[in-house]
Amino acid sequence: MNDMTDGYMTADGRKIGGVVMELKNITLKFGGVTAISDISFDIREGEIRAIIGPNGAGKSSMLNVISGFYIPTEGEVWYRGARRPQMRPYKVAQMGIARTFQNIALFDGMSVLDNIMTGRLTKMKKGLFAQAGWWFTGAAKEEDEHRAKVEKIIDFLEIQNIRKTPVGRLPYGLKKRVELARALAAEPSILLLDEPMAGMNVEEKEDMCRFILDVNDEFGTTTVLIEHDMGVVMDLSDRVVVMDYGRKIGDGPPDEVRNNQDVIDAYLGVAHD
Ligand SMILES: Nc1ncnc2c1ncn2[C@@H]1O[C@H](COP(=O)(O)OP(=O)(O)OP(=O)(O)O)[C@@H](O)[C@H]1O
Ligand SMILES: [Mg+2]
Repeated sequence: MNDMTDGYMTADGRKIGGVVMELKNITLKFGGVTAISDISFDIREGEIRAIIGPNGAGKSSMLNVISGFYIPTEGEVWYRGARRPQMRPYKVAQMGIARTFQNIALFDGMSVLDNIMTGRLTKMKKGLFAQAGWWFTGAAKEEDEHRAKVEKIIDFLEIQNIRKTPVGRLPYGLKKRVELARALAAEPSILLLDEPMAGMNVEEKEDMCRFILDVNDEFGTTTVLIEHDMGVVMDLSDRVVVMDYGRKIGDGPPDEVRNNQDVIDAYLGVAHD
């Protein structure tokens, strides 16, 4: 295991801490398809770690391994100094890992507020019976606390004016922001974002970039994001993993990977041996 106490300073003067998660020799197969082939990298406390690569490179699959949704065929996931055992996705959520999806996964008929509240489910201590005796058992007080947390996130992401709106009526860019809000409602220590800016116009992208940076700044949230827009990756990320055909072809600060010949070839669609 790597040293948990070391770290580095970013170009913009942020302190990045020790290793929070380490992926060791991860291979993931779906029948005959090898989505991930023997990939190792680490994620450090407080950093914004990007995963980039052409379509079908295995990026979403990797995020699913990190989130615990997929169990790798080979390899190990280490989390905060211990090997993570196989566990159900909700257990991983309780460990402080929250995510957004490449295809938005919200409840269209429910309000923005209620959608974000679902992000707190893993935090709710009182079970069904307590909810039945709502007021007497303290479930009411607990609900107030959850609401207060959620309202704070709503303010932070500047979506007060749509809090009662059914999500299905929102434009795409705002839906993505609500998804981010729901992930933040779980107060994650690692936030996973699968193409948070895909399909957005320039203005929406700028907003989303600002929020990702603000979240990192305000809560120190370690963030792993998949992104296609190289400009965004260069602006946002501290270190970048580059994937191509399930393999890792680059890993380092954005400036370094941008000048890596394998990365340039992959993006220009140069044939592989
Ligand atoms: N559940 C699955 N069952 C079978 N094959 C899968 C599954 N999920 C992904 N794959 C395959 O694994 C490979 C990697 O897919 P993945 O979705 O991880 O790529 P990606 O880098 O996220 O691509 P994109 O940029 O298009 O989102 C692809 O060949 C894909 O078809
Ligand atoms: Mg994907």
